[in-house]
Amino acid sequence: MEKEITIRKPSDMHLHLRQGDMLKTTVQDAATWFAQGVVMPNTVPAINTPERLIAYRDEILSLAPDFKPIMSFKLYPGMSADAVKAMASSGTVLGKLYPAGVTTNSEDGVKSWHEIKEALGAMSDLGLVLSIHCEKPDSFCLEREYEYHQEFAAIAKAYPDLRMVFEHISDRRSIDFLAGLPDRVAGTITAHHLLLTLDDVLGANMNPHVFCKPVVKGPKDREALRRAAFSGDKKFFFGSDSAPHLKTKKESGTAAGGIYSSPFAVPLMAQLFEEHGQLDKLENFMSIYGPAFYGIAPAAGCITLVQKKSTIPSVIDGIVPLYAGKTVSWSLKN
Ligand code: NCD
Ligand code: ZN
Repeated sequence: MEKEITIRKPSDMHLHLRQGDMLKTTVQDAATWFAQGVVMPNTVPAINTPERLIAYRDEILSLAPDFKPIMSFKLYPGMSADAVKAMASSGTVLGKLYPAGVTTNSEDGVKSWHEIKEALGAMSDLGLVLSIHCEKPDSFCLEREYEYHQEFAAIAKAYPDLRMVFEHISDRRSIDFLAGLPDRVAGTITAHHLLLTLDDVLGANMNPHVFCKPVVKGPKDREALRRAAFSGDKKFFFGSDSAPHLKTKKESGTAAGGIYSSPFAVPLMAQLFEEHGQLDKLENFMSIYGPAFYGIAPAAGCITLVQKKSTIPSVIDGIVPLYAGKTVSWSLKN
């Protein structure tokens, strides 16, 4: 008989659902595998007013009523405490800090945390979570994450009650850094940072479809991320950072960062954990620790995966997904 595993339906603690034509695909792909997800606010225009947040949430819910969007807002320089309070009353539990210019749609981001002191104080008082894209924009690309540690530590010190998430960890030095911080600090790990290295991006022919921010790093970094994911440490949990860009745009000469991983991230994680004899750690990593950190309930329902091959399409609605054209050894049992 085929091997099976039943886990609480996963929670994706970091994903980009986009807008317009793409939204239907991204929401449905996410809802297949995830009960809920932290929806990133780097849309155009950004999610930084209660009206936009509510409209976006309603649009997502209209496409997948069973999927719970955990809405975030984007911090902007000079954001007032009142503006943060207004966001909080619209139902958000987290604010996202994008260092200016560091990634897709972050030109209006924050140059230094000193520009958002009032907002951070209000977030701390209101018990909101601060989620950060941890990269220092002007540093050398492979050192960007490491060189952001100082800024992250300064914020953690200035706001001793603020819960903080270090998003999409990519560098092995960040694992040690986070391990040394208190429990109110956590980190998300993506499927692609657990599966790929820089060789997949540019070791042979350059592949824009696996180019993302922060860029995937070396084998030792991937090893350290895997150790953290398998560790059973509740500080580390899954956030796909699924971030689709159209194939035509990815192949147009300059490619924005972002990998579309929602459609197969869960079976790919089951495969990775199984290959390393860690299948018993999968549920906590994918479904339990993330919501627990946020103080949100995990999914009520479960999914069952069966060890049966699926082929990942080479294109999904104009987007090339992670592991396009390859097979994955687990499938959803229906
Ligand atoms: C994300 C996107 O495209 O919105 N891109 C990425 O490479 N991860 C933004 C982000 O999370 O950096
Ligand atoms: Zn992201």
